[in-house]
Amino acid sequence: MMKNIVGLVLALAFTTVGATDVLAQDKAASMARGQKVYNEYCKTCHQATGQGLGTVYPPLAKSDYLAKTPMPQIIKEVVNGKSGKLKVNGKEYNGVMAPLPKKYTDEDIAGVLTYVYNSWGNKGPVVTVADVKKHKKK
Ligand code: HEC
Repeated sequence: MMKNIVGLVLALAFTTVGATDVLAQDKAASMARGQKVYNEYCKTCHQATGQGLGTVYPPLAKSDYLAKTPMPQIIKEVVNGKSGKLKVNGKEYNGVMAPLPKKYTDEDIAGVLTYVYNSWGNKGPVVTVADVKKHKKK
């Protein structure tokens, strides 16, 4: 009886550790993919450390807009583009972000958003491929 309980507890402990590892690995892989997409595409405007550029490109690093806007809307804006008046960290912007080029896959989108949400001091969610599929349509 005692042996069985010890076995059960050990089995549960290993299962939990295993699941956490898988999640951590998923996040790491997604971050790595996202960093590539970011550096290839988003960096031109939002800059290497997400600091933005002048009055034209808003920052992503510590962006209050990013933090307070629901994730489904951020997915839509990055995929379909965004224009018009916008306030980020107290500064006004009124620009145009073009739709994301079609060559980027749902994995790329999940990765780049996870990267932006979890870099440069940002603390945001991990965006999954399922989130992207569900919310990317206009
Ligand atoms: C060609 C320039 C350009 C590229 C490339 C670009 N953006 Fe933007 N982005 C903008 C502009 C301009 C705005 C503000 C639009 C407005 O004024 O309504 C913006 C706004 C945003 C916002 C909301 C505002 C904020 O600062 O929190 C997010 C989030 C964002 N972009 C993420 C991304 C991500 C992620 C990528 C890469 C997949 C990307 N952008 C690529 C120009 C760009």
